[in-house]
Amino acid sequence: MKIDTFKVEKWFNKYEKDALYDLADTCIEPLSISELLELTAQDYEDVFNKKLNYGEIYGSERLRSAVSTLYEKQNISNITITHGAIGANQLVMLALVEPSDKVVSIVPTYQQHYSIPKSIGADVKLYFLKEKNGWLPDLKELEQIVGNDTKIICMNNPNNPTGAIIPDEMLYKIVEIADRCGAYILCDEVYRGLNHQGNSFGVSVADIYEKGISTGSMSKVFSLAGLRLGWVCAASDIISSVNSHREYNTISVGILDDYFASIAIENKDKIIEQNIKKLLTGKKILLDWAKNESKIRLVEPKAGTTAFVHYDLPISSTDLCAGLQKDTGVMILPGETMELDGYLRIGFGNNFEKLEIALKIFSEWLDKSDK
Ligand SMILES: Cc1ncc(COP(=O)(O)O)c(C=O)c1O
Repeated sequence: MKIDTFKVEKWFNKYEKDALYDLADTCIEPLSISELLELTAQDYEDVFNKKLNYGEIYGSERLRSAVSTLYEKQNISNITITHGAIGANQLVMLALVEPSDKVVSIVPTYQQHYSIPKSIGADVKLYFLKEKNGWLPDLKELEQIVGNDTKIICMNNPNNPTGAIIPDEMLYKIVEIADRCGAYILCDEVYRGLNHQGNSFGVSVADIYEKGISTGSMSKVFSLAGLRLGWVCAASDIISSVNSHREYNTISVGILDDYFASIAIENKDKIIEQNIKKLLTGKKILLDWAKNESKIRLVEPKAGTTAFVHYDLPISSTDLCAGLQKDTGVMILPGETMELDGYLRIGFGNNFEKLEIALKIFSEWLDKSDK
């Protein structure tokens, strides 16, 4: 089965190992095992005494119960545990998309949401978010593209790369658009839990629509990307179709991953409070820099770990990022890898000293490039 190159992953493979300042990353500083055990007041012996058998098939009851607390109306039968959100998204596509199905994908987004259905033979329509709308969908335009024959709408809320979060009323309207034609909504909610203000967890599509599917993971919200653990949350008939495919590629996730994820979610308030503080610190550094940088314009991110920044130079984002890294070691992700040239994705959740220095270096480089 042919599939398009995953452009963001290719970029990381090529540039990450040599980066002196990595501003392309979407994670918040990761937790170590000892930090996690201390933060959650766990006994080290519990870890060392674990027998390394297969785990419970769909994820332990303890873990699925913990995940269900991240939603309003879900229980363990609505959740299956996967290899990261990347595994969750793929399994949902394999379970639901047939050749010739119409799939509407709201971009920019994680490339899985259009390249996997395309590889299955679906008729994929991209709906482009616009900066002038604060990176939120225009519902009239969305309704038009969805029409009456869409099988799945794929979206990412809060959004990577823009940091936009769809207001609740708008999310309900998107559900109405989907419901009119009986479409599923696959909402990648991997950044849900990282709203910068108010309740860190916004409304989930799984709680408000019977054909709403939420995917999530430990990678961003809990700073535990190394667990490689995520989930699908949806109505039990959808979970059952997902599990039919899951039997062929997962068996179970690792016992230790399941355990670490359980204790992290059971102590979510402590971890998330710490992470929001970090995000607000990083965001302030980014916004202060952008205010004083005449060649840069950005919509303030309201959630998540990244901003999508417009630059004012007559070169492609790919050439800009390749040149910047070659000259300075500063790594930024080109918008072209997310289908929107003229923009750059900057992550602000990690290592603030480096963030501040790297942005200064970037400004100096922009000045030189303009001459
Ligand atoms: C929107 C989105 N979905 C899914 C993933 C994959 O997440 P995970 O590490 O849980 O597999 C990422 C990773 O950057 C992402 O940004």
